[in-house]
Amino acid sequence: MSASPTSASPPGQARSAIVTRLRDAGCVFAEDEARLLISAARTPADLAAMVDRRAAGQPLEHVIGWAEFCGLRIAVDPGVFIPRRRTEFLVRQATALARRAAGPAPAGDAGPARPRPVVVLDLCCGSGAVGAAVAAAVDRAELHAADIDPAAVRCARRNVATVGGRVYQGDLFAPLPARLRGRIDILAANVPYVPTGEVGLLPPEARVHEPWVALDGGADGLEVLRRVTGAAPQWLAPGGHLLFETSEHQAPQAAETLARRGLVPRVARSRALNTTVVIGTRPSRRPRPSAAP
Ligand SMILES: C[S@@+](CC[C@H](N)C(=O)[O-])C[C@H]1O[C@@H](n2cnc3c(N)ncnc32)[C@H](O)[C@@H]1O
Repeated sequence: MSASPTSASPPGQARSAIVTRLRDAGCVFAEDEARLLISAARTPADLAAMVDRRAAGQPLEHVIGWAEFCGLRIAVDPGVFIPRRRTEFLVRQATALARRAAGPAPAGDAGPARPRPVVVLDLCCGSGAVGAAVAAAVDRAELHAADIDPAAVRCARRNVATVGGRVYQGDLFAPLPARLRGRIDILAANVPYVPTGEVGLLPPEARVHEPWVALDGGADGLEVLRRVTGAAPQWLAPGGHLLFETSEHQAPQAAETLARRGLVPRVARSRALNTTVVIGTRPSRRPRPSAAP
């Protein structure tokens, strides 16, 4: 990503002073960060304030107001969970399943072929990055997203609007319209999964600048996952998929939770992104056995 000169572009000497300041504050990629801050600032005063905030430890994404995720620029307000690079693996899994759910494009010569819309729910959506990325990668998606945190919902509305989705505020499934019951093809839920006792061990950028509700997954980290799994079968379409990100060691227990609710579990692992996704599929309705002749 290249920085274009703005009215806040400082002369070379001032630019290297910014790099030094960021480096002294512990920013490993000080040169890149300086470039991003300079390109995001509208005025020299703006730039000075942004450098101060970053040097004081605010996450870069909160300072510049966006995060790059799956090739998209996702707006991220202060106090909203910053989408992680590893979560792109969850998006890749969800997108592959969404494309399969859309089915093959209809054949024939009656105009351009269009697959059916795939109903996607981004539950615990935070900034809405996951839903926005899946919807952007699928030909026709009907996107819904929900979060309990009003700051996240405000932010998600901006990101999800770009792909024509809707965002609801409330506890898990409670704010969703009843018409979505039994219709969701892809339910991506990047729920909080850090065990309560480990939240305090996270780096300060998360622990101090992201809300507790975005991180704390209860005693074993799986409490929100269990609540989502308990209700998900009523919301999934036959053949629909529920996807969670978990830690590697949580995955077997998460898969067992899905199986207990009648979902067919599968675990996908990315070594490159060092992440795990647990997927539960609601069995399709079986065809009725044909009557004996
Ligand atoms: C780990 S963050 C993930 C955000 C986003 N999906 C992402 O991947 O960037 C978890 C999100 O779950 C939300 N959350 C936590 N408990 C919730 C609940 N009971 N109902 C709805 N959202 C909840 C938090 O507000 C937070 O935005």
